[in-house]
Amino acid sequence: MDNHTLKTHALAAQKNAHAPYSNFKVGVAILGSNGNVYSGCNVENVSFPLGQCAEATAIGTMVNSACTSIKKIVIVSPTDELCFPCGGCRQKIAEFADSNTEVVMFSQSGDEKVVSLETLLPFAFQMDEN
Ligand code: THU
Repeated sequence: MDNHTLKTHALAAQKNAHAPYSNFKVGVAILGSNGNVYSGCNVENVSFPLGQCAEATAIGTMVNSACTSIKKIVIVSPTDELCFPCGGCRQKIAEFADSNTEVVMFSQSGDEKVVSLETLLPFAFQMDEN
């Protein structure tokens, strides 16, 4: 599935974002290794630290559908700047991806950047390294 098709899924999810505190609505679409698409939006809370990133929502949706492998993940920013996943979400993506998995960012103005997970999260924590 091409990046622009995944982007349309991410844009649809972005519309559902609950972001009344930051006004920063993010949409994510994951292409699972099974070929299915799982999307998610950020879900904020009046108790600010309880907010959930769009990546976490999409990953939860994926796992809840019995898919545990990310082939590609697309993140749509609400602004003309690309939205890179936060540090915690990089680790969450790494749980279900490998170093070559593509992470694709789109801005509202259509800029696109594709990087590997390894680029975003070098020396990722693993428990089986020794
Ligand atoms: N956010 C995401 O959902 N994904 C990211 O990659 C970065 C940030 C959310 C968290 C919060 O609801 C809002 O964007 C502002 O930080």
